[in-house]
Amino acid sequence: MKFKLEHTDSKSKARAGMIKTDHGDIQTPIFMPVGTAGSVKAVHQRELMYDVKAQIILGNTYHLYLRPGLDILEKAGGLHKFNGWSKPILTDSGGYQVFSLAENRKLTEEGAVFKSHIDGSKHLFSPERVMDIQRIIGADIIMAFDECPPYPCDFAYARKSMELTHRWLKRCIDRFDSTEGKYGYSQTLFPIVQGSVFPELRKQSAEFIASCEREGNAIGGLSVGEPVEEMYAMTDMVTDILPKDKPRYLMGVGTPANILEGIALGVDMFDCVMPTRNARNGMLFTSEGIINIRNEKWKDDFSPIDPHINSYVSSFYSKAYLRHLTIAKEILAAQIASIHNLSFYLWLVGQAREHIIAGDFAVWKNQMVEKVSRRL
Ligand code: GUN
Repeated sequence: MKFKLEHTDSKSKARAGMIKTDHGDIQTPIFMPVGTAGSVKAVHQRELMYDVKAQIILGNTYHLYLRPGLDILEKAGGLHKFNGWSKPILTDSGGYQVFSLAENRKLTEEGAVFKSHIDGSKHLFSPERVMDIQRIIGADIIMAFDECPPYPCDFAYARKSMELTHRWLKRCIDRFDSTEGKYGYSQTLFPIVQGSVFPELRKQSAEFIASCEREGNAIGGLSVGEPVEEMYAMTDMVTDILPKDKPRYLMGVGTPANILEGIALGVDMFDCVMPTRNARNGMLFTSEGIINIRNEKWKDDFSPIDPHINSYVSSFYSKAYLRHLTIAKEILAAQIASIHNLSFYLWLVGQAREHIIAGDFAVWKNQMVEKVSRRL
């Protein structure tokens, strides 16, 4: 993997760049649709490629390991071959999912022991095991095994957890660097900054992560319930420390406004379930603001969902029709809303990139944050 920094905004820390992988190039800043179990829910690959124009998608080690399992993924020749997505894939390491989904989980120095949320079977995720699993899944970018502490948590817990994440990272690096990809293309490992909302710990963690000199770095442990001001303050501190010539990935973030602010703070990559999960509940993100499509006010609004978004469903289907499908619980409602929301997120980061290159990002960003946060 290679990263080329193309432009840096003069009035903010926003950057435009290009990540090169063996599965193609990614223009940054970028949003990565979440495909937890090997599928972006309700969106098939052709729509993801040509309507949404996704450049990279995300998968989850925890889910893919439990189902379909490593034997099937390896027999398929990796996740790209299995699900038909030929562009880059990033996999999260499972640390975060073990703590949010698994039952009876227990953390030790060795790793995390947990029971599957699917069948109750018992498993151990260690840093070494999680590297091996992500080698088999075959993502282009794989994440270090970390602990994401809950919010709020006290300083002592956050420090212990960060130190464990750092020790686990060393083990991840040792294992990753002593193994090879199984399918003939290269993979890269991103470490994750932790430290909860404590500036001292964030600084320490960012310095440690930077010293590992990997090809890209991630910021974890945010968007877990803390006030947005704290999320921005921690991100701001960390991007001052992480190397400028490598991509920065802010994990699990966020709303359209969070993404624009994150870009202004020097973040290059984002992922979040929000555009797809909220789509399935009738929440639409548009260039004019947020719509609850179940609301009666849309019942006879025959205007397109959002004509500014260059995706077929956004201008072909009306708000009134999508409202009808949603109320009638038609499967098509989830499909249209998911494709639209993802297209909007990809449009938004694409616009941000254009404005960074044009040199007017900061002004555009402030106007856009207001617009996309409005409830219509
Ligand atoms: N997704 C959102 N936040 C995190 C985090 O802190 N760690 C990992 N591994 N995944 C995340």
